[in-house]
Amino acid sequence: MKALLDVGSIGAAGLRGLLDRARDHADALRAGERVVPSLDGRVVGLLFFEPSTRTRVSFDLAAKRLGATVLVLDPDRSSINKGESLRDTVLTVSSIGAEILVVRHSEARSPALVHTWTGRPVINAGDGTNQHPTQALADCLTLEERFGSIQGLRVAIVGDIVHSRVAGSLVDALRTLGAEVILVGPDAMLPENDLPRSGDLDEVLAEVDVVYLLRIQRERGVEASDDYQSRFQLDFDRSARMKPEAVVMHPGPINRGVEISVEVADGPRSLILDQVACGVPVRMAALEAVGGIDW
Ligand code: NCD
Repeated sequence: MKALLDVGSIGAAGLRGLLDRARDHADALRAGERVVPSLDGRVVGLLFFEPSTRTRVSFDLAAKRLGATVLVLDPDRSSINKGESLRDTVLTVSSIGAEILVVRHSEARSPALVHTWTGRPVINAGDGTNQHPTQALADCLTLEERFGSIQGLRVAIVGDIVHSRVAGSLVDALRTLGAEVILVGPDAMLPENDLPRSGDLDEVLAEVDVVYLLRIQRERGVEASDDYQSRFQLDFDRSARMKPEAVVMHPGPINRGVEISVEVADGPRSLILDQVACGVPVRMAALEAVGGIDW
């Protein structure tokens, strides 16, 4: 795999291979193994042109756990502020010696451009409203660890789906692995496609195994209507109407009191911190895959 730009292009076998490798890493981490030096001495460049907490930090730790050297570009203090283009910036970082590039950018498809310009392996860490493949992998690993298999699970994705790169990748991954997906939200937040959809969260709550909540992407120009919370917030009462074994997920950052209540975010159904923890082993697997490591 020369690049991990989206979920669609890696296919079912690619997805399965990454998840199996990530599961092995997760088991090894739990067993106390700290470093698996398959990328010993290789240089991983983290190029985050948009804010990030969990994705950036987990790529950083994943690379270090593989024995790589991590080179972090801080865009706010880089020559981008002096008018340098994205192309010149990434060619510079590549020439300095970054061998694998992890790219987050507000423009869809910029990680693909970085791959073309530099010829280096690239992982898309979130591009505009397009894709976020390693988040989808972390979510699938979380679900497999909880349910054993994703095949046949019913997953409601709720909220600002049209602006969500997380949803873009997750829908592809879940359907490839045999889950049924239903999109839930106000019309203006649902993309145009032929997936099952609903504007009524209460109608689907008791039917699904997973409620996957999304933040409203205000930085991409969308505002919630006044009745958003009353219609779509997953609060205690709604969570009580879910199936006994059903779980709540969210890629973070969460906005407590908007799409999710405080009690539900911290409650027994919440897998939010499991998703975060799964971010490290899946990013280890992704870095190895684009780094040409056979497993
Ligand atoms: C998301 C992102 O940046 O795409 N967060 C993440 O990576 N876990 C989701 C978001 O910003 O809402």
